[in-house]
Parts: sequence; C-alpha cells; structure tokens
Amino acid sequence: MMPMTADLTPATRSIGLSLGADLCWPACYEQIVDRLKLELPIGGEAVRFAIERITVEPFDLKQPCKYDVVLDRLTHWFHTSREWIKKAVIMDGLYVLNNPWSLQSMEKHTSYCAMMRLGMPVPETWLIPPKDPTDHADAGTTLKRYARLFDLGAVGEQLGYPMFMKPYDGGAWVGVSRIDDEKKLREAYEGSGSRVMHLQKAVDPFDLFVRGIGIGPQVYIVKYDPGAALHDRYKVDFHFVDGEEWSLLTDTSLTINAFFNWEFNSCESLRKDGVFHPIDFANACPDFQVTSLHYHFPELVKNMVRWSIFCAATKRQMPINLDWKPFFEVAKKDLPYRDRLREYAKIARQRMEQDRFTEFCHTHLGHLNEVAWEFFGTQQAKGYVLAKVQALFPAHEVEMFTEHFWGLIQFWRKTEEDRLSRLRADKEPKDAEAAEVEAQAEDGEEATAVEGAKAT
Ligand SMILES: Nc1ncnc2c1ncn2[C@@H]1O[C@H](COP(=O)(O)OP(=O)(O)OP(=O)(O)O)[C@@H](O)[C@H]1O
Ligand SMILES: [Mg+2]
Repeated sequence: MMPMTADLTPATRSIGLSLGADLCWPACYEQIVDRLKLELPIGGEAVRFAIERITVEPFDLKQPCKYDVVLDRLTHWFHTSREWIKKAVIMDGLYVLNNPWSLQSMEKHTSYCAMMRLGMPVPETWLIPPKDPTDHADAGTTLKRYARLFDLGAVGEQLGYPMFMKPYDGGAWVGVSRIDDEKKLREAYEGSGSRVMHLQKAVDPFDLFVRGIGIGPQVYIVKYDPGAALHDRYKVDFHFVDGEEWSLLTDTSLTINAFFNWEFNSCESLRKDGVFHPIDFANACPDFQVTSLHYHFPELVKNMVRWSIFCAATKRQMPINLDWKPFFEVAKKDLPYRDRLREYAKIARQRMEQDRFTEFCHTHLGHLNEVAWEFFGTQQAKGYVLAKVQALFPAHEVEMFTEHFWGLIQFWRKTEEDRLSRLRADKEPKDAEAAEVEAQAEDGEEATAVEGAKAT
C-alpha cells in the first residue's frame, strides 16, 4: 500500500517516449505504469506520472520542454529528434536515456580502445585504412601524399586467422564477415569500398555467447545464439553461468555503461577457455522487441519502468559530462584484473546511485512484480504482441508466431510465479521487490549467484 499523500502538494512528472517502429514495449510500459497507480510522497509532494508519446514537429530553440525524462529510441538515426533532445537537455534540464552526445561521438572503435585500456579481454583488433578514398575533395591527394603502402597479408598473418572484418562504427551486422585465410581477407577488403574497417581476432571456438542488457544499475544476462533465426536468438535457458561469472558479466556491463553514460545498452561477450571476451558493446539503442525477446521481454519492461520512474520521481540529474579519470586511476593499479573490474563497477554503481535506487524500489515499487505478472496475462497484452507480429511477419505466419511469443510470455509468468513465491518464503517479512533489488545489489556473494541464475 502506498503511504498517505493527502496533505502533500500534488505534482506530476512527465515521461516522454521518443519512438520509431517500437510498438509493443511502449504499450506495455504505459499500461504497467498506469496500473501501478503511483502517487509517491517525495520531497513534500505527492508525485504522479504522465506518460506521453513525443511528436515530431518544428520547434523554437527557446521553447520550454514539458518532459522530465525522455526514453529515446531514435537518436542514432533520426536527427530531428536528436537535436530536439539536445536542446531540451541544455535549455530545460531534461533527463534522457541515452546521452545523445555520447552516443553520437562514441563508436565501436572508441568503446574497444577504452575498455582495452581498462584491461578488458577485448580480442586483438586492428584498424585498416579504407580501400577506396571517400568522396571528399582532398581524399585522393591526402592518401597519395601520406598513406603508406601496406601488406594486408602481413597484417592478417600477424593477427592470425580466423578473424572478423567489420566496420569500426558498425551495427546490425552490416559489412561483417568472418575470414579464415588470406584469400578471403583480400576479397573482403576489395569489397569494403570507402568504409573504415576493423580486423578483429575471432574468439574461436567459443562455448557460450551472452548479452548483458543494462538499464540503469540493473543488468539482465541472456544466453544468445547468433546463428539462430531472428526470433530465436535470445535463448530461454537457466544456470548457464555460475555466480562468479554472473557477477563478472554484471560488473563488465555496468563499467561500460557508466563509462559512456549509456543507461540502456547491450554488451555481447563470448566465453572461451573460461574467459569472457566482450566483442560488441556500443549498442546504445538495444533491441527491445517482443518478437526477439519473448520470454525476457517482461523483465526488461519492468527494469525500464523501475529506472525511468526513479529518475523522474527523484529528479535525478542527468550525467552530462563524461568523467573517465577515476576509471583510468584504477586501471593504473597493480591489481589482478577481476579486482580492478570490481573497483570500476563500484564507481559505476555510485554513479548510477544503486543504493538509493534499491531503496526507492523497496519503498515505492513493491507491487511492480505483481502488477506486471497480472498484466502479462491479459488479452490487452496479447493484443500488443499480435500488433507487433502483424507489423513484422507475413499474414500466414501471424497466428503461429503470436501464439509462440505469447506462449513464451506465459512460460515467463509460470517461472515468475515460482520465483516470487520462493522469494516470499525465503525473505519474509521483506517484500519480493526489495529482495530482488537487494540481491542485484549484492556483489559477488552467494545471494547474487542464486538470484543471477533465477534472473536469467
Ligand atoms: N571477435 C569475434 N569473435 C567471434 N565472433 C565475432 C567476433 N566479432 C564478431 N563476431 C560475430 O559477428 C557478429 C556481428 O559482429 P558485431 O556484433 O561486432 O557486429 P554488429 O554489426 O555490431 O552486430 P549487432 O548490431 O547485431 O550486434 C557477432 O554477433 C558474432 O556472431
Ligand atoms: Mg553484435
């Protein structure tokens, strides 16, 4: 039950959704926030929440912004919205997930360099100049004067096969190829045109591929199969990592996300000989489709509700500037890598206010688990899944895939029901929400391992 708020000043926090093709998560997010019936006693106010979808229209740079928080899904490609958001952050103090400047200026390449400096086992990576000059007027002259002839075969020899060639700023598998020998390397380079490419040593063979999806201080770890069909890449699997691995993957994601101010990001890691190698972690607009995430979708919607409500309710200040120095100070220490990673993650947790967030969820969002569980059993929720399937699949597959994804969400409800009743039994008299968030906060202890296995 919510504490009494009758004597407090009513206040409303506005959360804007900046959307493109997303259909299912915004509808579920709106419904769940509505069903939470929040009226939170915070700082002398009784705080309610209004969710609105942001429209695209001309704007005066001095026009005020009515939103407190914006969940943005367009920044990486739709510049009108990106520039409106940048204006609103600077002029009106808007809080946005994710930081648009960081997203605009940091590509895969920067993320590799930075995490290599912190000591993460990113595979060895080279950058090679483009095969064909760009169409800039001075490109030909510049390359003629200053580009040194190089032997691609020698670079390949030095790096070793197999390797991957991929754009230094890439995404969505565009221009990615696996290369097993020099002949293939030369062919791939011939076909790369004006793109600046990386050559990266393959993690091969790997025995596990995981994605760590971070939303604020919460990290959700899923087993992933890049070779499966699109709807089947996120696996429904449990106990595929042990407690220490779960803790390491969580610390890895938190470190990356805090370093770049990416509050919603996905980190891909491949395990070989017991070591997790992060290979792709500049994904600051991760997949949020029910048609990919199915079983995992409800937990991620819940994580988004928790973090966005926390940011809006507490008027958390958006971290505008990047501050890398504290991470580099830790990097200099003569410590084993796991201990340094723990220190990086400590900085990340402080920046993401994990303790305050945990307390907030305990105090104000104790009913979220139950509300989400109820909601994901309704026909309304099924209708949202259907709408997304209709948007992506041919007509003759709509019914089959709607039932498939809906079935997996109902399986989530079954496992969630079991998890909640176990938590209730284990953690009495604490409520389930507090126990869950506390378990996420405990670092490296047994409780974390148990919770991690459950959460995945
Ligand atoms: N070093 C590597 N070792 C093994 N496999 C790799 C490596 N680099 C890339 N891959 C494979 O190629 C795929 C695409 O590479 P990567 O994730 O870096 O590109 P991307 O364009 O960012 O893809 P996406 O946006 O789908 O994540 C990976 O999912 C993985 O299967
Ligand atoms: Mg990838």
